[in-house]
Amino acid sequence: MTCFRAAPEHDALTTDQGVRVDDTDNALRAGTRGPTLLEDFHNREKITHFDHERIPERVVHARGAGAYGYFEPYASLSEYTCADFLAEAGRRTPVFVRFSTVQGPRGSADTVRDVRGFATKFYTREGNYDLVGNNMPVFFIQDAVKFPDFVHAVKMEPQHEMPTGGSAHDTFWDFASLQPETTHMLMWLMSDRAIPRSFRMMQGFGVHTFRFVTADGRGTFVKFHWKPLLGVHSLVWDEAQIAAGRDPDFNRRDLWEAIEAGSYPEWELGVQLVPEEDEFSFDFDLLDATKIIPEEQVPVRPVGRLVLNRNPQNFFAETEQVAFHTANVVPGIDFTNDPLLQGRNFSYLDTQLIRLGGPNFSQIPVNRPLADVNHNHRDGYGQQIIHPGTNYFPNSLGGGCPAHAGAGGGPGVFRHYAERVEGQKIRERSPSFQDHYSQAALFWNSMAEWERRHIVEAFRFELGKVESGPVRERMVGNLTHVNGDLAAAVADGLGLPAPEAEAGITAASSPALSQENLRGENAA
Ligand code: HEM
Repeated sequence: MTCFRAAPEHDALTTDQGVRVDDTDNALRAGTRGPTLLEDFHNREKITHFDHERIPERVVHARGAGAYGYFEPYASLSEYTCADFLAEAGRRTPVFVRFSTVQGPRGSADTVRDVRGFATKFYTREGNYDLVGNNMPVFFIQDAVKFPDFVHAVKMEPQHEMPTGGSAHDTFWDFASLQPETTHMLMWLMSDRAIPRSFRMMQGFGVHTFRFVTADGRGTFVKFHWKPLLGVHSLVWDEAQIAAGRDPDFNRRDLWEAIEAGSYPEWELGVQLVPEEDEFSFDFDLLDATKIIPEEQVPVRPVGRLVLNRNPQNFFAETEQVAFHTANVVPGIDFTNDPLLQGRNFSYLDTQLIRLGGPNFSQIPVNRPLADVNHNHRDGYGQQIIHPGTNYFPNSLGGGCPAHAGAGGGPGVFRHYAERVEGQKIRERSPSFQDHYSQAALFWNSMAEWERRHIVEAFRFELGKVESGPVRERMVGNLTHVNGDLAAAVADGLGLPAPEAEAGITAASSPALSQENLRGENAA
């Protein structure tokens, strides 16, 4: 395969074809005052390439900053998973991490009140594994089918690309107030967690319950946690606003400069492990991404560390073109039936096919696995590889076509966890998905007095920008189910009467949480 050098040995300017250029400042023209000539291929090529420099930004998480580094486990986790990169203490796996805001476009400010993305690509010996998480442990919605509605409500309003009021806007709060499953995440979003001082000082969470799988097919539920060595620190609201004005690159500059200075940020990976037989031992469903597993019930076990020690050389080539995908898993790590995760497993590849211009974006250097890649995928836009020989399976004529490992599998072969699934085709979920307020209340109750004050101030500020009276009232009504004092304090700040306890949208039903209804349809 031909190898293209990004930095040739000489510094002479050439065309795309490698022809040396005599003059890049003066287009070829007829006479000193005549028209520019079409014949000037360098001029045309230069402008054409420039005209095509932009690609679509990510539909969410458009603004981000990335860095390279490594991950190493403290000890072998092979008791729970056959993942090679977790098999041995100190085995270093290269990583690329991208931090992001969710709502704003590529050119927006860093220090806005928002969720932060925390996406890690592990270039393992058995293929790339992506842990595509956020800095908050829960999510707004329980089912990916709501994601387009949610994002349409979150993004700027379509008629003028502005929020109606100020930094908060009616469409977001309208959606949030009508979908009370957002309440737990809203508590995190109104807390100081939503204005991190630095990417180096924020937690990360895989959010969903995933599955570790051993070589002999035994599963263990797992939740992933990243904990920053520097501790968790936030800005206060006024600082965040000043930084947004004075230095919109506040967080990405901090990351870049720390790495340039050799002050490498570090996180500890922790896992919460739940044996398969304990699947129904909680008063919430492990498949519900609006719920945490309280650490009092399942402690977080530290398993390894992540260090970021190298900045990218080219923002576009690396940070912009990196493609994370929840379905990029390796042997030993598998999914659960969390309906949010299942939808994500479709969405990322789908969006990247258009964002990165066709089916060959895994050949872009930042996305390329270190593991060998060998398949019969051929052609398509942006194909970089010259594949010799035939390209089908089964194949008796040879030509280097790869064969699959077969039913027996073997070390390093991905085999889906053989979960038993049966049930009717329905759109319902287990009843505990209807409990939208218990964990929001748990969050509120765990806050110190000053943290509560910040949350109340955030609700007052954000809802104070909402023009629609009914939206504000409905939102305050929902908060009565979290905590009466919280709702009353927010109402007071908005000039609304003290809310009735039964105001707002209640859970569709208040099911008695039993083993039976937690199991839902799918458990046999
Ligand atoms: C992008 C996290 C839910 C669709 C991202 C990114 C992160 C992330 C960190 C940025 C990746 C990067 O840096 O390039 C999460 C988390 C979720 C969640 C933690 C919930 C637990 C969803 C859902 C969908 C979705 C439900 C769709 C059904 C997307 C899309 C992108 C994205 C389309 C853009 C990807 C790209 O263009 O490369 N998400 N997300 N996300 N997410 Fe999610």
